[in-house]
Amino acid sequence: MTLESAPDSVVPAAPERAELPKAMITATGDEWWRSAVIYQIYPRSFADSDGNGIGDLKGITHRLPALAELGVDAIWLSPFFKSPQKDAGYDVADYCDVDPLFGTLDDFDQLLEAAHGLGLKVIADMVPNHTSDQHVWFQAALAAPEGSPERDRYMFRDGKGPNGDIMPNNWESVFGGPMWERVINPDGSKGQWYLHIFDKSQPDLNWENPWVREQFFGILRFWLDRGVDGFRVDVAHGMIKEAGLPDYTPPEEGASMGGAAATDLIPGIADPEVVPDPPYWGQPGVHEIWRGWHEVLAEYEGDRVLCAEAWVDPLTKVALWVRPDEMSQAFNFAYMFTDWKAKPLRRVIQESIDAFAGVGAPSTWVLSNHDVVRHASRLALTADSPQGAGIGPNSPGKPDPAVGLRRARAATSLMLALPGSSYLYQGEELGLPEDMELPDSARQDPTWFRTNGEKYGRDGCRVPIPWEANSPAYGFNDSGKSWLPQPKDWAPYARDAQEGVPGSTLEMYKAALSLRSVHGLGTGSVEWVTDYGKKVVAFRNGDVTVITNLGKVAVELPVGEIVLSSEEIVGGALPTDTTVWLLPS
Ligand code: NOJ
Repeated sequence: MTLESAPDSVVPAAPERAELPKAMITATGDEWWRSAVIYQIYPRSFADSDGNGIGDLKGITHRLPALAELGVDAIWLSPFFKSPQKDAGYDVADYCDVDPLFGTLDDFDQLLEAAHGLGLKVIADMVPNHTSDQHVWFQAALAAPEGSPERDRYMFRDGKGPNGDIMPNNWESVFGGPMWERVINPDGSKGQWYLHIFDKSQPDLNWENPWVREQFFGILRFWLDRGVDGFRVDVAHGMIKEAGLPDYTPPEEGASMGGAAATDLIPGIADPEVVPDPPYWGQPGVHEIWRGWHEVLAEYEGDRVLCAEAWVDPLTKVALWVRPDEMSQAFNFAYMFTDWKAKPLRRVIQESIDAFAGVGAPSTWVLSNHDVVRHASRLALTADSPQGAGIGPNSPGKPDPAVGLRRARAATSLMLALPGSSYLYQGEELGLPEDMELPDSARQDPTWFRTNGEKYGRDGCRVPIPWEANSPAYGFNDSGKSWLPQPKDWAPYARDAQEGVPGSTLEMYKAALSLRSVHGLGTGSVEWVTDYGKKVVAFRNGDVTVITNLGKVAVELPVGEIVLSSEEIVGGALPTDTTVWLLPS
């Protein structure tokens, strides 16, 4: 049985490697996204043209040439739509307008034109699981009576108990606290409850309602007509809830973005039979929605892409999101959260390739984004830090920055040699660490507030990035303002401090991206090399041999021309936490 023909609710086993036609993981036609390197821009923190301390679209446009020079193929813009910014724009009040904080629709059109002029595709971030509570649909729902069509666009339910005082079920919000908020009726009496997987300012839409589905077809077309090359789809695994909304207690304390996967974060191996998905994640009904979205994108010329944010496990289940008539690709969070150890890394790479190839989709690879601890810190953490919890001044197991950066460089060099599509998060090309010293008073992530400071949240990876070592706000703007304070010691990370400097992280990224393109690694394949022992990940992709040493002991390198190395190589041996790319000499 192929995944393509599998019913939505069945999770088939990954096919054996030997059965896989190689062509299934190579690019076909001009489906650019199959091998693209996509750079995530977090608009608040990328570049600020008006000096108010919050990044904007004009700032992005101004800095686009730096990204073309870096060598990426596309940018993904986190939300810039009209929003009260309770969750940094993932609380949308108008899907068809730009928030004045970021500019105007004209600014967006100019950005798009400039990006296309530089050969960069542009992916927008669609947030369909929930709206802002300020959205006109939700305001209309609040004003409308119980049982009305307006209320049916969201997830309103009566409370339990004689006065409806008890929440409809026991679900916990991803950001902490209950997943339900009670409405106060216009006459001051207590009313129904509404569901919000995230903050109470982010009510969940009712995707069983055809009206909601129709609205989003229109929203997609609005941006496709303007020329966007596709969408990253927020919380693509959360939009359908299990019928009857049954109680659910996560196997481990605290809610998270994922179901089975997030309970142990061991890539690819949570068994859905043993650890069932929560009733709000990964429900089979979502696939019908993606088929509809696929059809809308197919109306347009050029290959437009849909990328799922779907925190589900195992990878064979993620692959269900990217069957030929659904989305194009899905983030590979199993890969992101794999420990810095050779065996699990080899395993997750193979499982990813197998699972996605089984449906004819490319695997994706990612190490950082705006929701996780930056990998230049995460890879050296010595204590657990669940997704979304963040790290701060009082966190245990603080990473050694030198070890973290060294591992991050090795990990990225490994990732960019893998076939498929890779996602980069702004600032990682500078080797930026997580900011662990943010003062409590500066924090903005709802997670921090909803957990009463128990979880630091995600602000530490969202600090505005440094462009110029000796300018106000490191060149983020001219005014020196910054919505999250930038660390005092970030000058060496600034782009201009690394530009043209041999061995800098920026130059390493540029070299890797250029070689990846020259040698066609994105459309290649992985052929494992097992000559270097258990602590080494080594493979051939076309004419390039990639070797990463995760052990403590240096490994003798084979004869060959080193075209990329994440650290300086002295005397023909590959030191710990280092990756090289070799060509036959
Ligand atoms: C996932 C986004 O990546 C995250 O930043 C956001 O808080 C939640 N979805 C809610 O939209």
